[in-house]
Amino acid sequence: MEASSNLIKVHLANYLANLPLPNSFTGIFKLGISDIVKLIPFYATVGGVCYISYRFVCPRSPVNPSIKKESSKVADVFAIEELGDSTAFCRCWRSSKFPLCDGAHNVYNKLCQDNVGPLIVKNNK
Ligand code: FES
Repeated sequence: MEASSNLIKVHLANYLANLPLPNSFTGIFKLGISDIVKLIPFYATVGGVCYISYRFVCPRSPVNPSIKKESSKVADVFAIEELGDSTAFCRCWRSSKFPLCDGAHNVYNKLCQDNVGPLIVKNNK
């Protein structure tokens, strides 16, 4: 524990104190090549930490979280005759009856503060 404490309190403090950080934005243009080379690891580390933090807060999520993931494309075909007077098709990709809506969009909307809903096809014969 003492070694890590020493590393942070002494070596990291010395490293940061000796960085050739400019006092103003225009000071960047007055830095020499050796100063810029010394700053590269520092800015790379700061950028990496910022990127990881951003990815942690805003993870990438696919539109389709679980339906037919083994397929390269999800496509369904219905004949008009198969549809009743009214059929609701899922557009939130959370229905257990996909491609038909089972109401799962209500839970999704509450959790994610979204407003997605089904496509309802009516047969006006
Ligand atoms: S369950 Fe997906 S739109 Fe209703």
